[in-house]
Amino acid sequence: MQKILLLNGPNLNRLGKREPDIYGADTLESVEKRIGALAEKYGFDFHAVQSNHEGDLIDALHQAEDDSYAGVLFNPAAYTHTSYALRDAVAAVSLPVIEIHISNIHARESFRHQSVIAAEAKGQIAGFGVYGYELGFYALKQMIKGVGNDEA
Ligand code: DQA
Repeated sequence: MQKILLLNGPNLNRLGKREPDIYGADTLESVEKRIGALAEKYGFDFHAVQSNHEGDLIDALHQAEDDSYAGVLFNPAAYTHTSYALRDAVAAVSLPVIEIHISNIHARESFRHQSVIAAEAKGQIAGFGVYGYELGFYALKQMIKGVGNDEA
């Protein structure tokens, strides 16, 4: 069975409590459950990792490749704007990585407008709240299984 990894970076363990006016009221646990249920519905194995530590996120990307994951949904959080090491990790793995942001990073403080990850990701989804994870899942599914091939 093909596997999908949901990878979340620093402070996202605080979803629901953290700046709810920006990030909403849903917890990370509820997001992981929802994406896990979708993954199951479409016949994927699913694993979720959250870490506040840059190196752990890099290790998780390497591990996803070593364990033959089919793709990754990745919210690098604040590392999006600063981490060349994570950018290199995304470039280093051959599996598709989709960058996800809950908020519209392009409409916020100027330091958030740049993503150093984006050029190495397959695409970026930002500004649709936690629904962005679902959008990312569908994008990844299409990439892995092909358009209109839901049962495959
Ligand atoms: C975020 C946006 C980042 O700028 C911020 O540092 C986060 C979350 C988002 O999901 O909107 O922690 O990635």
